[in-house]
Amino acid sequence: MNRLQFWPQSASAAATEVDHLFIALLVVSFLVLGLVFGLMIYFGTKYRAGSTADRSDEHLKSWRWEVAWTTVTLLMFLALFFWGGDLYARLYRPPPNALDIYIVGKQWMWKAQHADGQAEINELHVPVGRPVRLVMTSQDVIHSFYVPAFRLKHDVLPGRYEMLWLEATVAGTYPLFCAEFCGTDHSRMGGRIVVMAPAAYERWLAARGPSSTMAQQGEALFRQLGCSGCHGANSTVRAPPLEGLYGRPVPLQGGGTVIADDQYIRDSILLPKSQIAAGYAAVMPSFAGQIEEEDVLKLTAYLRSLATAAPPPENPPPENAPPENTPTRAPR
Ligand code: CUA
Repeated sequence: MNRLQFWPQSASAAATEVDHLFIALLVVSFLVLGLVFGLMIYFGTKYRAGSTADRSDEHLKSWRWEVAWTTVTLLMFLALFFWGGDLYARLYRPPPNALDIYIVGKQWMWKAQHADGQAEINELHVPVGRPVRLVMTSQDVIHSFYVPAFRLKHDVLPGRYEMLWLEATVAGTYPLFCAEFCGTDHSRMGGRIVVMAPAAYERWLAARGPSSTMAQQGEALFRQLGCSGCHGANSTVRAPPLEGLYGRPVPLQGGGTVIADDQYIRDSILLPKSQIAAGYAAVMPSFAGQIEEEDVLKLTAYLRSLATAAPPPENPPPENAPPENTPTRAPR
C-alpha cells in the first residue's frame, strides 16, 4: 500500500545514527525555543501594563542566571557538534576491507562499474553487511549522488574523484537520485540501489560476469589506444615505465613529489602537461575528449594491477617507497 511516508526508509547503520542525531538536534532546538518563548509569554503576561504583579523585589541583573543558561546551552550544542563532527569523519573514512565500486555520473544517467568488470546503468547492486567504497566522478557537469535510505548525498564533480562509503544493513530496493540540477533531464536522472544478501550478490555477479575484469579491460584499452607504443619495454620513445608505479611517490620536474594515486593517473592521461615526471620530456599527448571517464577508471585499474610488478632495473623505485599495494593516500 502506498501511503504518505514521513520518515524515509532506513537501510544502513549510518542512516540510523544520522536519524538519532537529527532527532537530538530537533529536541534540543525545541527545548531552547520552548524555554525562550515560554518565558517571554509568561513574563509578558505577568508584567503587562496595568497588571497587579508584585514589582517590589527588583534586581538589576543576576549573573548566576546568565552564566547558568549560557553554559548549559553551550554544552548541549557543543555535544551535538562533536557528535556530528565525529559522525561526519566516520562517514568519510572507509574501512580498509571495503569493496570498491566506481560510479560515473553523466547527463543523465548513473553508471556503475564493479572491479570484476560488471557494468550497470541506473542500478547499483551491493551486498548487505559489507562496507562498499564508492569512487565517483562526473563525465560532464556537477551531479549529486543521493540515496535517502542511506542518508547519503555527495556531489560528483568533473575532473576529480569523490569518495563515499556505505554499509547496507537491510536487503531491498531503494531509490537513487541526482540531487544537483544538471540540465534538462535532471529530474529523471535516478535509479535504484539493490541491496542483496551476500550469496545472492555473488550469484548476481556470476550471472552478469563478463569475460574480463576492469583491469583486463584496461589492458585491452592500453594496447588499443597505443599507450604501449611509448610505455612498453621495447619502445623507442622514452616514457616512464608503469610497472610498480601505482601508489608510489613520483618525483616531478621542477621539484616536488606526488603519489601515483587514481587522481594522478587520471590527470596524467587527460592533462599530461600538468605534472611531468622528472627526467622525461613532455611528449605525452592528452586523451581528453577521446576517452570517457570509465575508460580512465579501467586504465587506472590496469595500472593498479601492475603495482606489484617489478619496475625495470634501470629505473629503480626511490629508497623510501611505501610497501607495495598500499596507496598512501585515498583518491580525493
Ligand atoms: Cu545529474 Cu541532476
